[in-house]
Amino acid sequence: MTTHTPRIFSGVKPSGGLTLGNYLGAIKRFVDMQGPQFETIYCVVDLHAITVWQDPAELTDATREVAAGYLAAGIDPSQSILFNQSQVSAHAELAWLFNCVARVGWMNRMTQFKDKAGKNAEKVSLGLYAYPSLMAADILLYHATHVPVGEDQKQHVELTRDIASKFNHDFKAEDFFPMPEPIIEGPATRVMNLRDGSKKMSKSGESDMERINMTDTADTIAKKFKKAKTDPEPLPETLDGLKDRPEARNLVDIYAGLSEVTPEQVIAEFAGAGWGKFKPALADLAVAKLGPISEEMARLMNDKGEIDRILGEGADKADAIAQPILDRAYDITGFLRSRKR
Ligand code: AMP
Ligand code: TRP
Repeated sequence: MTTHTPRIFSGVKPSGGLTLGNYLGAIKRFVDMQGPQFETIYCVVDLHAITVWQDPAELTDATREVAAGYLAAGIDPSQSILFNQSQVSAHAELAWLFNCVARVGWMNRMTQFKDKAGKNAEKVSLGLYAYPSLMAADILLYHATHVPVGEDQKQHVELTRDIASKFNHDFKAEDFFPMPEPIIEGPATRVMNLRDGSKKMSKSGESDMERINMTDTADTIAKKFKKAKTDPEPLPETLDGLKDRPEARNLVDIYAGLSEVTPEQVIAEFAGAGWGKFKPALADLAVAKLGPISEEMARLMNDKGEIDRILGEGADKADAIAQPILDRAYDITGFLRSRKR
């Protein structure tokens, strides 16, 4: 069996501004995984963003903003490859091969598609339906072995394994594609909406009050936590006491994620405290952690040339890994390739 070098790939869509969910569930963890143990490749997945309508000028802006978020949070371009997906054409090419490997039945089981399409399934783009096959291409194009994501992406990484395995099997290319592992760890892999603890915090919810944006000011952050939905009970003595209290559990998990402790430790510190005590403590913590990041994002957004340069250089490095793997995938598939390049 071939062993693949430990390599991380992950991505964030530029389909609006970054949220606290993106930060705790993804970007903060990407930063923590930089180091000698893994090669790290982080992408602004712009091709994914257009599965739903994006205004062209806003797409460009949002692409730079996600890149600025990565950089401000601590992704270091000398340690990690940072680029935007559309600058490396191999993503779209491998996705086509995978569209012909993945089965319609597999796609029909994707819960995120069902949620997003809802009753409108006939009207959404074909890209939204095929999206998981592009995501599989993103990961497998680099022979990535580990994929840090939030809870909502688990099924897509599992589908990626199914695609890798069917490709390897159908073309008798044993171990050509690795079986990537989803890494879903920490207290905040599913940050919930601040107004409804049964819904995920997302970039595109109806009301701005339901999410914390990475670019929110200190006052806005404090106001949003103050108005966050809770229940009348104080915090319990043990974590078990939060079982049927989704909104309360969410705020405890956010506190744990931001302060890098476990939810148990948060409960130990705040057992018996009411919201009048906990919410301001949470707001102060969030402002202390997010403030410097949003300041740095603002600084970077004033230097678009610098962001574009970093993404361009990252794309060159990404392309150098991706192209030979795509070429081999084409060879394995039997495509005639006689152009001199
Ligand atoms: P997206 O914004 O959909 O491109 O998501 C990018 C990454 O952030 C993925 O790994 C998601 O799982 C993660 N993510 C997005 N929203 C949340 C959330 N509310 N809680 C935890 N992780 C999230
Ligand atoms: N689909 C992911 C999301 O919406 C983003 C994404 C695209 C991704 N390609 C990826 C995540 C590859 C991890 C690896 O959140």
